[in-house]
Amino acid sequence: MNSKKNYNIAIVGLGNIGSEVYKHLVKNKRTIEINTNSSFQIKYISAKRINKKRGFTIPKKMWVKNPLSLVKKDDVDIIIELIGGSDGVAKELVFAALKNNKHVVTANKALIFKHGNELVKIAENNSVNLLFEASVGGGIPIIKSIKESLVGNKLFHIYGILNGTTNFILTEIEKTKKSFKENLLNAQKLGYAETNPKLDLNGDDVKSKISILSALCFKTKIINKKFLTEGIEQIDLEDVEYAQKFNYKIKLLGISEITDNKIKQRVHACLIPKDSDLAKINGANNAIMVEGNPIGKIVYQGLGAGKGPTTSSIVSDLNSILKGNITLPFGFNFADAKEFKMFDFNNHICKFYLRIVVKDKSGVLSKITSVLSKYKISIQSILQQPLQNNKYANLVIITHNSKEKDMQSALMKISKEKFISKKITMIRIRNEKKL
Ligand code: HSE
Repeated sequence: MNSKKNYNIAIVGLGNIGSEVYKHLVKNKRTIEINTNSSFQIKYISAKRINKKRGFTIPKKMWVKNPLSLVKKDDVDIIIELIGGSDGVAKELVFAALKNNKHVVTANKALIFKHGNELVKIAENNSVNLLFEASVGGGIPIIKSIKESLVGNKLFHIYGILNGTTNFILTEIEKTKKSFKENLLNAQKLGYAETNPKLDLNGDDVKSKISILSALCFKTKIINKKFLTEGIEQIDLEDVEYAQKFNYKIKLLGISEITDNKIKQRVHACLIPKDSDLAKINGANNAIMVEGNPIGKIVYQGLGAGKGPTTSSIVSDLNSILKGNITLPFGFNFADAKEFKMFDFNNHICKFYLRIVVKDKSGVLSKITSVLSKYKISIQSILQQPLQNNKYANLVIITHNSKEKDMQSALMKISKEKFISKKITMIRIRNEKKL
C-alpha cells in the first residue's frame, strides 16, 4: 500500500475542456495524489494552436507539436484525448496509444461509437485502460455506474435526454416563445452546442451516446449501423405550443431496450406527458433512466455538457487509473459480448402527433381521415386552426395506438396530395410514467 506509483500524463487538445482539465489537475494535484496514493505529473501538452490566448501559461518544455509522437515516449503513461471527432488525429492517436500500452482517457463519444468495438479489443489485449465517462451525459457518472455499481442487475431498458443543446432549445422555445434559430445561437454562446450544431439537431449526438450506453447495459458490441435517428429540426414553436394544449412536452430521447430478445434502439423526438419526470428536465440538463432486475427503475440527472461537468468525469477516470486499476473498458470481457437481433422498427406501436399544414377547403379533412382509416389509424383528437390569411390551416391530429409502418405509408400517401403545403410534422407519443 505504501509504494506509490508515479504516472506521467499527456493532454492532447487544449480547448475549452482541455484547459479546464489542465487547470483542475494543477490546482488539485496534491488532493488527487492523496486520494489515489500515487504521484503524477502533467508531462506533455499538445494542441493545434499553441499561441492561443488561454489566460494561463504552460511551461515551454511541455509542448509537443506532433501528438502522435507521444505514444512512443517512455515517459508517458496516460494520454487524455480531448481533440474530438470520430476520425483524423483523435482516431490515430487513440489507436496508437493503446497499441503502445498507454492508458487512454477520452471524452470522445463519436470515436467510441464508431471505433469502440476495435479499441476495446486492443485495450483488453494490452491490459491498459480505455475510459470514456465524459463521452455521455457530461458530469453524470453513468458509465461507471452501469459497469460497476449496477453489475448485479439484468438491465433491460435505458433511455433519456442525452443532448443538452436540444433540451435547452426546446425548453427556451417554450419559455421565450422565440424562434428556434435565436435559441440555437444562445445555446452556442453558452458553449453547449457542438462546433457543428447539426450533430446536436439531427440526433447524431444522441445516436452515439445511446449506442454506447446500450452496449454497456446489455453487454453487447456497440451497434453503430443504421437505426432510426431523428432530431428536432422539424419542430417549431407551434408544435411546442400544441403539445402543451394536449398536456404534453416535447423531448428528444435516446431509447434502447431488450424486447422479445431483440434490441430496440432509436433516437427521436417524443411527446411525453407533461407531469412525467422526464418532462421536468429543463435547460441543458440530461436525465437517464435505467431499468433492470432487481433494482427496478433509477434516474440519473445533471448537466450534460460544459467544461465543469466534463472535467469532473475526466478526472474521475484519471483517478481510477492513478489508483492502479485496470478495468475492462465495457465492464465485461468483450469476447463474451452477447448477440441480439435488431427489432424491426416498422412493427413499433405508439400514438402519433401529426401537424399538417393544409389548404383550407372542402374535402381536405375527409381525404386525410380516409387515408388514415385505410391504414387502420384511428384518430383520438383533432384540432384545426386557421393560419394568418385563412387560406391555410394547421390540422393537428393525435392518433390512437398505431403501427409505425402504417403511419409511414399513410404519411407518404397524404404528402402527395396537392392541398399539403409543407412537410408534415410527425412526432411519436411516449406513454412515459412517473417514477
Ligand atoms: N453537444 C452535446 C450536448 C454536449 O449538447 O449535449 C457534448 O456531448
